[in-house]
Amino acid sequence: MQQLTISFIGGGNMAEALIAGLRRSGHDGANIWVSEPQQSRRDYLNASYAVQVSPDNAEVAKHADVLLLAVKPQQMKPALAGLSVELKADVTVVSIAAGISSSSLHEWLGEHVNIVRVMPNTPALVGAGMSALFSDADELHKLRAEYVLQACGVSVRVERENQMHAVTALSGSGPAYFFLMAEIMKATGVKLGLSDALASQLAAQTALGAGKMLAESDRTAEQLRHQVTSPGGTTQAAIDEMYEMGLPAAVRKGVMAASKRSEELAG
Ligand SMILES: NC(=O)c1ccc[n+]([C@@H]2O[C@H](COP(=O)([O-])OP(=O)(O)OC[C@H]3O[C@@H](n4cnc5c(N)ncnc54)[C@H](OP(=O)(O)O)[C@@H]3O)[C@@H](O)[C@H]2O)c1
Repeated sequence: MQQLTISFIGGGNMAEALIAGLRRSGHDGANIWVSEPQQSRRDYLNASYAVQVSPDNAEVAKHADVLLLAVKPQQMKPALAGLSVELKADVTVVSIAAGISSSSLHEWLGEHVNIVRVMPNTPALVGAGMSALFSDADELHKLRAEYVLQACGVSVRVERENQMHAVTALSGSGPAYFFLMAEIMKATGVKLGLSDALASQLAAQTALGAGKMLAESDRTAEQLRHQVTSPGGTTQAAIDEMYEMGLPAAVRKGVMAASKRSEELAG
């Protein structure tokens, strides 16, 4: 896999997270190409990661064994114009754009092209991403996509493309739900008399610790919660109040709304 040429169309935030992961895992910068309209951004990526850069999508696409589409969904169709003739016959096209279906990508790039659709999330920026992929293509193409994604976190597969809406609602948008929780906890800590900096640190490190326990323990979230909730204690008082105020319903409805919005955006 380390010999593959991996080309990015679009050199924004998510592309940078994946490039950083690939470089950390030892992928040679000479085998990574990035096309990006902004000169300053190209210079930055070249200086930071020793990757090849170009303003020309076709130039970058023609080298690719894996072509990673990392532009905003609304930029996708124009970014792909004229690229199909440049692609190698067995290229793996990996799209991380929310809401752009495999059938749209086939329409723009050709029916024969091997497409892998991915929903990553922003913790990829710190090497702790959660990605889910869907593909009808051969195993080789899924393995190639996983090679890229696993350089900056964990990746899983879903069996049906329409499950990508639920994935978007859970892990795609999910970091923001935890940020919201941390935001509210911090503000309340300040109200209770802590300094801004201390309350922020307590909330952030608690989120990190709870996340690590969730990811590494073989217990469920519910079991972990019960473990730290002694009857009649402080945690019990908080949880009772949160239930009373409708927190479970609010989270459930929020996640449902994200999934519905994802379906609407997909058209
Ligand atoms: N960020 C997330 O949390 C997240 C999560 C899951 C999926 N995604 C998906 O990841 C994709 C990228 O998101 P992002 O946050 O990395 O966006 P971003 O930072 O805006 O990156 C997109 C980059 O592509 C460049 N670009 C625009 N038009 C182009 C073209 N025609 N050819 C080549 N490059 C072009 C943009 O340049 P300009 O700035 O000059 O326009 C920008 O540098 C999106 O499709 C998004 O749905 C993001």
